[in-house]
Amino acid sequence: MVLSTLSLRPFFAIAAPLADFLDLIAIIVYMIRFFSANRIIHPPDKPSRDAPKGWAQPFAPYGCFNKRTKRMEEYATLSYQGKTYRLPLIVGTENECAIDILKLRNESGLITYDPGFANSGACKSSITYMDGERGILRYRGIPVEELAEKSTFKETSYLLINGRLPTEEELRNFSIMLNDHSLVHEDMKTFYQNFPRASHPMGILSAMVNALRSFYPELQTGEEEINFTVTRLLAKVRTMAAMSYKISRGHTVAYPRPDLAYCENFLNMMFHTPVKPYEFVKEVVRALEVFWILHADHEQNCSTTAVRVVGSGRVNLYAAISAGMAALWGPLHGGANQAVVEMLSDIYISGGDYRKAVERAKDKNDPFRLMGFGHRVYKTYDPRAKIMKKMCDDLLSALDLKDPLLDIAKELEEVAIKDAYFVDHNLYPNVDFYSGIVLRAIGIPTNMFTVMFAIGRLPGWIAQWKESMDDPQWRISRPRQIYTGPNETHYVPMDQR
Ligand code: ACO
Repeated sequence: MVLSTLSLRPFFAIAAPLADFLDLIAIIVYMIRFFSANRIIHPPDKPSRDAPKGWAQPFAPYGCFNKRTKRMEEYATLSYQGKTYRLPLIVGTENECAIDILKLRNESGLITYDPGFANSGACKSSITYMDGERGILRYRGIPVEELAEKSTFKETSYLLINGRLPTEEELRNFSIMLNDHSLVHEDMKTFYQNFPRASHPMGILSAMVNALRSFYPELQTGEEEINFTVTRLLAKVRTMAAMSYKISRGHTVAYPRPDLAYCENFLNMMFHTPVKPYEFVKEVVRALEVFWILHADHEQNCSTTAVRVVGSGRVNLYAAISAGMAALWGPLHGGANQAVVEMLSDIYISGGDYRKAVERAKDKNDPFRLMGFGHRVYKTYDPRAKIMKKMCDDLLSALDLKDPLLDIAKELEEVAIKDAYFVDHNLYPNVDFYSGIVLRAIGIPTNMFTVMFAIGRLPGWIAQWKESMDDPQWRISRPRQIYTGPNETHYVPMDQR
């Protein structure tokens, strides 16, 4: 017995460390296999729950609620080339879920492809919420319908830029600042006078807003300086827009008046002449107020994205806003209000056959589109269009006006929204469908329509620019691409081509 135990001793002396060693190898192999098969793309350092400067809401947490399993899920899974990647989920305050792909390329070598950014969230934002399926639009949480009914454009601008409604004193101070900065440098008039007569007012406005940096070169660094620049811009753009109209008509410029509120001042600068003082009609003033409130912001639309992208290179505010104005000018975006009235006028002039326009819009061989219809986000009636349509009726009846274009617009809408093509494509009137008729009733010339949109969108652009400047995760905008050009080739001398 003693002998047999003694004879096994060398065996145990070797086997025990060998087993430990094999266990270790197995653990290592298991770990390698586990990590190569289940790559976790880690979220960026979880942001603080304390709202950073300028943010109204706490930062969105990681994880999305799964309605089916009734559990929070922290990751979406992506399988690629035999490996599985777990991508963190991120959720907003209205429970919209997104896949965080911040580290996707580093971990997997993949990028995403999304022309027109239809599925890409480019930022986190606490300014505007819209739900395209349910036709919801809220500024800082407040439904646009409530603001259109109860607020003023000045108050709404304050709300968007500062994140909350102002107190009485804050609003008073804001008004004083808007008044104090409403004049523009007299030398700017020379610029205006030198644009060719036929220039489009949007081109002029965009160029002049960029030029503001040369007239007011103070740097915007501190909080107070930024607020100062922002208010100056809000005050001056209104004056500049009216000035461009007056100069284009060869009229004397009407200066802003300290006794008038924001909208009245604009109307007065547009229409007052030394021989015919402008008479205010309360319904017209209110219509302008509502028109601007409805345009004040619309989250990450084309022009706002232009402001954010250009601003991300840390250019000055004026240059970023000027880029937004240039983007807004396009007929698929803010230029649509002009295009709608031109389309309705064409229908009217050619005998009023609106059905033909609907048929043309459906014809894939015809580039014609029904202007003022369709939207990237809204798949139902644009809530702003509803308010605008009612305002059209109210304003025209208050002014005892009859506009044949309104009749055509209503008939056109009636036919289009019942048409199978428009129903299948979720095409409904957008804000621009009725806005041109409101502007016509106010007396705004057609080529100034998009300028009116730009004045309205200004507080939104400013709020979005400010938010992007304060965003701790903000980086210069620099998308990637899928290259489809030639592979490496070589320069061919001229005589051999
Ligand atoms: N008339 C006819 N067909 C239309 C229209 C329209 N107004 N809008 C979209 N469609 C059709 C397209 O032909 C396309 O059809 P298909 O899928 O059979 O090829 C489909 O609907 C999707 O169109 P897209 O252009 O891919 O939609 P997108 O979301 O990119 O564009 C846009 C949205 C630009 C607003 C578009 O609806 C349009 O051109 N509308 C007219 C211009 C307009 O009113 N712009 C103002 C928008 S609101 C604003 O920016 C203030």
